[in-house]
Amino acid sequence: MSSTQVTPENIDSILAEHISEVFDDERFRRDSQKFRREGYIKVRELVPDAVFEGLQKEVRDIIAQHEKRIDVHLPETSNSPRYMSTVSASAIIKDGSLIPAVYNSSALRDALSRLAAEAVIDCSWDGEKYAILHQHKKGDTHGWHWGDFSYAIVWIIEAPDLKYGGALQCIPHTDWDKSDPRVMDYILENPIRTYGNVTRDLYFFRTDTTLHRTIPLSEDKTRIILNTTFAAERDLKKNVTHETMGAMFD
Ligand SMILES: [Fe+2]
Repeated sequence: MSSTQVTPENIDSILAEHISEVFDDERFRRDSQKFRREGYIKVRELVPDAVFEGLQKEVRDIIAQHEKRIDVHLPETSNSPRYMSTVSASAIIKDGSLIPAVYNSSALRDALSRLAAEAVIDCSWDGEKYAILHQHKKGDTHGWHWGDFSYAIVWIIEAPDLKYGGALQCIPHTDWDKSDPRVMDYILENPIRTYGNVTRDLYFFRTDTTLHRTIPLSEDKTRIILNTTFAAERDLKKNVTHETMGAMFD
């Protein structure tokens, strides 16, 4: 299978075959319990190398055409910083093919639903389905924040040696009140868990109730992620607004 060219048409069958080989009931049970406890589970084995390599190439091509530098602080997350370059979902929809195909893969979605222990469904707003975030300058960071929707898969397209920063820090089981985010209160009141991710890792993430950030880069180094956002049924009932997305993307 590794010699097969990955295309938008065959990606779902490649994922279905791979996931059935790598994940059995015991693995799903164990990973689901850890995921629900921590809001985070590294699932590097969920996709074969050929699929990840296809996404890496597509992300780099899209960055070269579309990225824009942002340097902002957002009041909805206690003025935490966003220092990075970004590519919006609309640019990914315009010039991506594997990214939308992997997003729509029913094999991937079934696996995520087993990990979440509930139905993982399409993000109802196209503008938040996909994003590319590119940190490259000393001090670049995705400051403390939550997500508007319940779930994400984060694909680590490239990560620096963790001694230069870029690790993920999390405080699970916290709630985002956009009018009173109280980020420092949560930091002071709770343990912070730090996860190191390297190039080619991916993790499944409970984004709406996990306060999180990346450790700022200590030198000019490259950290690129592809974020794919998914929803739960509960998100459809919420009046989701997108202030922080509007500040970071077109
Ligand atoms: Fe995030």
